[in-house]
Amino acid sequence: MNVPFFDLSRQYQMLKPEIQDALQRVMDQTAFSGGPFVDRFEEELAAYTGVNYAVGLNSGTSALHLAMLVHGIGPGDEVIVPANTFIATAWGPSYAGATPVFCDIDPLTWNIDPESVRSKISSRTKAIIGVHLYGQPCNLDALRSIADEHGLVLMEDGAQSIGATYRGQKTMAIGDIAATSFYPGKNLGAYGEGGALFTNDQTVAEHAKSLRSHGSKQRYFHDEIGYNYRMEGFQAAVLSVKLRYIDRWNARRREVAALYLEDVKNPKITFQSREPESTGVFHLMVLTTENREHLRDYLAEQGIGTAFHYPHPCHLQKAYADLGYKPGSIPNAEAQAAHCLSLPMFPEITDEEAMAVVHALNAY
Ligand SMILES: Cc1ncc(COP(=O)(O)O)c(C=O)c1O
Repeated sequence: MNVPFFDLSRQYQMLKPEIQDALQRVMDQTAFSGGPFVDRFEEELAAYTGVNYAVGLNSGTSALHLAMLVHGIGPGDEVIVPANTFIATAWGPSYAGATPVFCDIDPLTWNIDPESVRSKISSRTKAIIGVHLYGQPCNLDALRSIADEHGLVLMEDGAQSIGATYRGQKTMAIGDIAATSFYPGKNLGAYGEGGALFTNDQTVAEHAKSLRSHGSKQRYFHDEIGYNYRMEGFQAAVLSVKLRYIDRWNARRREVAALYLEDVKNPKITFQSREPESTGVFHLMVLTTENREHLRDYLAEQGIGTAFHYPHPCHLQKAYADLGYKPGSIPNAEAQAAHCLSLPMFPEITDEEAMAVVHALNAY
């Protein structure tokens, strides 16, 4: 049986009439950039996550950039970032002129390691970005204590974790500020690019709204250098439809994850551990194994699609060569990057497909 790594078309077939109706309404109102569909989606998203304000943007990367600017982070400042995340987590500080300082991950949860965070704090540190990698919340309690102890801003990168909870609260609602992405492959994906910033602070929300629209609160008056980071009406309309399904889809992801976690019995394979007080959303189902290229090829021969998230850690990217990190400097993140393999995981995958993957893994 062929099992795709990911298939968005199944979801689109299911949503087609609703999506087409939503897009038609945007066209009827010619509300293409910002406007009423974005306003409505922001309200729905804020209510869903339990945060006072959600600011709709054109990408998750823009959200991370604005998270820095609204907290006054810029040149000379340092922001601690886990080394095994999608590179955009580090772009946030870099775009703002600050320096990302890469720290290690916990060897079991593969999320940011609070002890490593502590070891990276300097007099220049201004913030910590906790990434909820693969949709599993990171250790927010420990990060909160460190941030409070050192007067740092705690940011959540929830690009992979919409709907995940930590101690009963949704991710995005716990840090001082949070960013998410609606890239089409995310568990809440737009039909194009999109992202959002979350804050409980009205002044911060208004500042972010001004920055996303050319630094302007009043038309043709520009208080500071701003950006064109607005969310499109089409994306907001699609996301409003999809937000109504997110709990159902996340629940289905957990069901599929349970098949993998309970039925894969091969000692060559290790899955991600989870924080005890958290309910993750399994945006990705990642394993580690000694020779992941071998396992990838073995699965491919059986028609099973896989991917690597992420095969090269941030600190060893050429873009950050000037920061001077050497191989071996962030060992757990490097080991994770060298051994990770992502399995098929999306809400529309059938039990038969998931079990075909399980059987293949057990026979490996
Ligand atoms: C952890 C993480 N942070 C940030 C981003 C950036 O989001 P975007 O692609 O919407 O700019 C992504 C996804 O691409 C991500 O996975």
